[in-house]
Amino acid sequence: DQATKAGYPHFMLKEIHEQPQGIRETLNRRLDENNQIMFDDINLDKSNIDSITNIYIIACGTAYNAGLQGKFALQKIAGIKADADIASEFRYSDPFIDENTLVILVSQSGETLDTLAALREAKSKGATTLAITNVIGSSIAREADNVIYTWAGPEIAVASTKAYTTQVVVFYMLALYLADIKENISKENYSHIVDELLAIPDKVQSIIETEEKIKKIAEKIKDNTNGFFLGRGLDYSIATEASLKMKEVAYMHTEAFASGELKHGTIALIEENVPVVAIATQDNLFEKSLSNIKEVKARGAYVIGVTQISNRTIEEVADEVIFIPETDDLIAGITAIVPLQLLAYYVSILRGLDVDKPRNLAKSVTVE
Ligand code: G6P
Repeated sequence: DQATKAGYPHFMLKEIHEQPQGIRETLNRRLDENNQIMFDDINLDKSNIDSITNIYIIACGTAYNAGLQGKFALQKIAGIKADADIASEFRYSDPFIDENTLVILVSQSGETLDTLAALREAKSKGATTLAITNVIGSSIAREADNVIYTWAGPEIAVASTKAYTTQVVVFYMLALYLADIKENISKENYSHIVDELLAIPDKVQSIIETEEKIKKIAEKIKDNTNGFFLGRGLDYSIATEASLKMKEVAYMHTEAFASGELKHGTIALIEENVPVVAIATQDNLFEKSLSNIKEVKARGAYVIGVTQISNRTIEEVADEVIFIPETDDLIAGITAIVPLQLLAYYVSILRGLDVDKPRNLAKSVTVE
């Protein structure tokens, strides 16, 4: 057991540390020598791609949260209408599917029954299906029309970390690939985003090296029973995943809220010393995020900001700031989640919990 943890005390920590390598591998497997994305094995030619009118991204748990970033990438870069839906809900929602619909199934294990059932439903309705999975030859990989593998390597800890970040990377590559075929993106912009993606592994590494600071923040919040994660736009999807991690491994009751919704109800929950993680990576939304931070601060919250290094003014309003390296805002979700995975890990450890095998949870759920 110890050997497979490669000297790490837990699989979760090992897997968080393996993210630079997993992301690099996921990129390298699909880039040619000119840094062009290769998805040629995918059975979609230009006319198929031009005819896609909508995309459904279907998954459970962390994979669903990766799908939220996927929706952002597909709409923003490829310009195709995309929705993310929870697999167990999808079948009962009368989805709008026809032969011009692409359904993307995201699953680390490739065995989650709810996701598999959604895949079968989508196929029966005539959609083209595409799986994003980490396990070669898994049920979802075998049954989908097309597969893109993540190259995270085996994920053992119940709470998913490296599978999530590699799934998000695949979504960005897919969005770029579709945008290129649809002639929706300039060559310069395409190369710029690919270069930014290639720079991610080193940036993730540098975040991991700030672990001690994150552990100190974990010490400050470890005895709280409630907490909140706030974000707007892309940052809201990061908040959703960060909150799930905290619930899964640290058993802290946390919720993710869209910052703009604060005033419509959530703010009633803010009281003295409640931790609020405010994720603010998007330049165009930064001022709005600052004013949300001020609102919760004024009600006594203990605010932990997460932003890019140049946004120093956040230090004036937040109690603690986790700075992530400068990156194009478009892909900042891939880096911003990493310190929050570490935060959940350390709160769990400080509470003396079984971080790799949280109570009541299974790595892969093959029942409905
Ligand atoms: C279980 C795990 C989660 C995971 C979800 C989906 O609930 O505990 O960590 O995100 O299944 O798993 P999948 O293998 O389909 O990504």
